[in-house]
Amino acid sequence: MGYLHGYSNTEQRRLVEQAHFLEEKIFESFDLTSCRRMLEVGCGTGAECEILLRRNPDLFVTAIDRSAEQLAKARAHLENRPQLAARCEFIQADAMDLSVFASKHFDSAYFCWVLEHVSAPVEILRQTRSVLVPGARVYISEVFNQTLFVDPAIPALKHYWTRYNSLQRELGGDPDVGVRLGRYLQEAGFRATEVWPKFFLFDSRDHAGRARMMNYWADLMLSAVDQLLERRLILADEVQELKSEWAAARDAPATVFYYHFMQAIGSA
Ligand SMILES: C[S@@+](CC[C@H](N)C(=O)[O-])C[C@H]1O[C@@H](n2cnc3c(N)ncnc32)[C@H](O)[C@@H]1O
Repeated sequence: MGYLHGYSNTEQRRLVEQAHFLEEKIFESFDLTSCRRMLEVGCGTGAECEILLRRNPDLFVTAIDRSAEQLAKARAHLENRPQLAARCEFIQADAMDLSVFASKHFDSAYFCWVLEHVSAPVEILRQTRSVLVPGARVYISEVFNQTLFVDPAIPALKHYWTRYNSLQRELGGDPDVGVRLGRYLQEAGFRATEVWPKFFLFDSRDHAGRARMMNYWADLMLSAVDQLLERRLILADEVQELKSEWAAARDAPATVFYYHFMQAIGSA
């Protein structure tokens, strides 16, 4: 299965920046203080793992990813932080088969921007549940890309965003998986599931915050540009148009930026 963002150094750097940029928003709703042995699924470059360990001093994280390249980056990222590195291990594994882990081993599991990239999210959640102790919780943050709204409308955005999301679907993923988390958790056998939206709304009241968000969003959108160009889903001129219209909107006093992602917790 392909991967929308790819594994370039630029993308690996972007994931670290993204984790720090979104840290407060992601973690303000998760109380992880009672977690001791966590499985992090799809850890990427280890950026979320670093945050999990920093915020929870009693936590040990087993972090898995199917990509050896991501894991190499993750190990290097944590190597510079030996006190955190002592409380984690990185293992190459596909979340579709977690039989490598003893059944009912972990007291928590964590997913951040992973299920959007998989074709069988329920099976991955089922596998995850099989390695959790009863009552353990899974904590998930996921995209809901249909909610992106910029006012006044940016003509080049609509075209690009439609193609970006189509590519994600073509690669077997789901750019709106966030809104389906409740159903998927239930189908995978999790109980007491809670699902809620987390929104970003930036407008003329906070020009600097809006500019930071829109710069972050430009990097996110453009992380797929090489694949979009290669597949001729988008043309180089259209990318240039998007970049200039996006920059103009970012600097225009009237622009409103809105997006919400979804979070969920389920009990094993
Ligand atoms: C967008 S990255 C997110 C990384 C990290 N969670 C973060 O927020 O920085 C998604 C990661 O999920 C991994 N991934 C996708 N499908 C996977 C699977 N079936 N098993 C394990 N890892 C997977 C990818 O290799 C990639 O590193």
